[in-house]
Amino acid sequence: MSIKKKPDTRISLNDLIATSNRVSAVIERVRSTMLAPDARKTSPTFSTNQIATICGLDKAKMDYRLKKGDLPIGKMDAGHRRRFSLEDTRTWAKSVRSKLMRPQNAEAITIAVANFKGGVTKTTTAVTLAQGLSLRGHNVLVIDTDPQGSMTTLFGLLPDVDVSDEQTILSLCYGSEVSIDYAVTPTYWSGIDIVPANLGLYSAEFALPSRQKTEGSFEFWNVLDHGIDTARTKYDVIILDTSPSLSYLTINALLAADGLIMPLPPSTLDFTSSGQFWNLFNELTANLVTNRGKTKSFDFVDVLLARVDANDASSNVVREWITAGYANMVLPVEIPKTALTASASAEFGTVYDTDPATINARTYRRAFDAYERVVELVEGQIQTAWNRQLGEQYGA
Ligand SMILES: Nc1ncnc2c1ncn2[C@@H]1O[C@H](COP(=O)(O)OP(=O)(O)OP(=O)(O)O)[C@@H](O)[C@H]1O
Ligand SMILES: [Mg+2]
Repeated sequence: MSIKKKPDTRISLNDLIATSNRVSAVIERVRSTMLAPDARKTSPTFSTNQIATICGLDKAKMDYRLKKGDLPIGKMDAGHRRRFSLEDTRTWAKSVRSKLMRPQNAEAITIAVANFKGGVTKTTTAVTLAQGLSLRGHNVLVIDTDPQGSMTTLFGLLPDVDVSDEQTILSLCYGSEVSIDYAVTPTYWSGIDIVPANLGLYSAEFALPSRQKTEGSFEFWNVLDHGIDTARTKYDVIILDTSPSLSYLTINALLAADGLIMPLPPSTLDFTSSGQFWNLFNELTANLVTNRGKTKSFDFVDVLLARVDANDASSNVVREWITAGYANMVLPVEIPKTALTASASAEFGTVYDTDPATINARTYRRAFDAYERVVELVEGQIQTAWNRQLGEQYGA
């Protein structure tokens, strides 16, 4: 009896290459259908009510400013309701909220969103915050320091298709550039520029330690901090998204930051992991900063309770632990776990990109109000940090 040879079902490296090509093609196709007609994201439009809320105007004052005619009056839609473009909305915010904008001699406040646990909503928080601040009139630069490029994707750019290595912070890491200016790219969202990321950025994890060994006075942890100096005078806020690890790039982001935001879902594992994050961070900064006789301080460190599930009884217990541990660092607002991002197309955007007409009104309102509150609280901290800068300049 002859033994029949079984068909070879093992998966070769070539099979994996073919699979990877297929996955990339599917992503490209998905993007084209979701972002039809031209596969580019477009920014939302805003109602009179939304502008009034952003600008803190009541109906009478809003009507008065509309009649005065010195600000954009928008366009009437098919239902005879006034709609304003994002640019118009920002013009309103800058004018009406002029006292809340960056003072002339102050520099951008840099905020890193970090937590070495994966999937805790770092990227969502970073992008939402950037959008909320830009809607309030601020000019924002976002920098994707995560080779996964999720933030880049949320801005409608596919990391491996639309982004070249030269557009990322990699050249800073290699030392061929000293200022981030070369990599700044405009986005679909007026008022937000991005320095995108792609997988090539991963090689920074080899470049930075290698330069540390070979270049005498090189300090790998200061590369981004020095690299964004020019941007600090051009933007109001710089937001850094980080990868779920304490990598060389994440350390750069943390040490470039004036403020830190740590999104933290109230689950036991996320809480214990956050403790390890701070242990490791303290150990690292002791070696890099304190032991060299230098100091580093932050204007604010916020713990943001994120993806809070109202139906999960255990989250109440963990919330207590978080409050006991992080005390007044915990922001007085919680981001609910929401079905908002459950639809596939919403995965390409945030609450600010979502058309309220397309989803359940209560679901939208809960998520939107929570993020607005976060933006409001962080804007307050940014203003305090600007005042601190001015105080230092005048020797107060
Ligand atoms: N409030 C929310 N409720 C439910 N799901 C959410 C919420 N916010 C974000 N998500 C979803 O959770 C997932 C992880 O979010 P996100 O990518 O922002 O996390 P991350 O911390 O940046 O992840 P990574 O560690 O991979 O960088 C995404 O699918 C996102 O759409
Ligand atoms: Mg992320």
